[in-house]
Amino acid sequence: MASVKERQAQTPALGLEISEEAWAYHDGDFVRLADAKVSLATHALNYGTGIFEGIRAYWNAEQEQLYVFRLREHFERMERSCRMLKIALPGGPDELAALVTDLLRLNQMRTDTYVRPLAYKAARSIKVALSALRDGFGMFTFPLGDYVPTTGIAARTASWRRISDDALPARGKITGAYVNTALAVEEAHEADAEEAIFLTRDGHVSEGGSANLFMVRAGALITPPVYDDILEGITRDSLMRLAHDELGLSVLERSIDRTELYVADELFFCGTGAQVAPCVRVDGRPVADGAIGPVSRALATSYTAIARGQDERYPEWRTAVYA
Ligand SMILES: Cc1ncc(COP(=O)(O)O)c(C=O)c1O
Repeated sequence: MASVKERQAQTPALGLEISEEAWAYHDGDFVRLADAKVSLATHALNYGTGIFEGIRAYWNAEQEQLYVFRLREHFERMERSCRMLKIALPGGPDELAALVTDLLRLNQMRTDTYVRPLAYKAARSIKVALSALRDGFGMFTFPLGDYVPTTGIAARTASWRRISDDALPARGKITGAYVNTALAVEEAHEADAEEAIFLTRDGHVSEGGSANLFMVRAGALITPPVYDDILEGITRDSLMRLAHDELGLSVLERSIDRTELYVADELFFCGTGAQVAPCVRVDGRPVADGAIGPVSRALATSYTAIARGQDERYPEWRTAVYA
């Protein structure tokens, strides 16, 4: 197997170069990203008091259409996350969803695209608290292919434990909480793996660095429950429905022991960035025979076809950008 650096070099369009010329949305106006500026004294920059979302839009070349995947649900989750940090959004899910389609049209996106909404404590203040601090809101977009390879990745259990709900809730998509992810993913890369697997404080499997985790054992699809310090993923929810409705699998949300990963028939990560990313190696051991398994493959195929609008089922999951 090639090293993680060689495998990353084969992953095109990580979107790390985000154009400053693209249109963004910032506090009520569409502006060039270069002009969407914040002060060095911004509370969120100093203390991580922001909430973000990650949304994907898929280009369907045949239909000349760009489809945003489960757009409203992302803003519903954003509203829930914002409640934790006492941040007020500038509109409800439908208004914010309309801003996304406007922004994608303004940028004339005709390729797979990532949308990043960000709500944050915008006040210039050093007071470490949540109330009486002005809120800000912005969004930017950029082209994005695979965030991690979808052809089989290696994962490592992190020595860093997942942040627990009684310290820093993983249920909220809180900017500052992603330091936990960065530490674990960096460690995974140093151990020649693309993705980290977090354990909870009591030693159960939680999730990947920025993706939920599924395991196939004895014909059932199993994923950690919402009380094992996971982000309640929208892709996770979609795949649970597809596995049940399309593949007829029994889907279980239950705690997973670390060593169950070593004896699993299949493992895969899922998320807006990761999409469906099969995991073929964990902690230096091949997952089953080390090849991508049939459940991972079937779910990846269905997810991609549905999200891109090549499969017309689940129309309520797609928002068309162009008339
Ligand atoms: C920590 C974490 N877990 C899981 C996910 C997957 O969530 P979703 O499918 O809603 O993108 C993400 C984001 O992609 C994440 O950052």
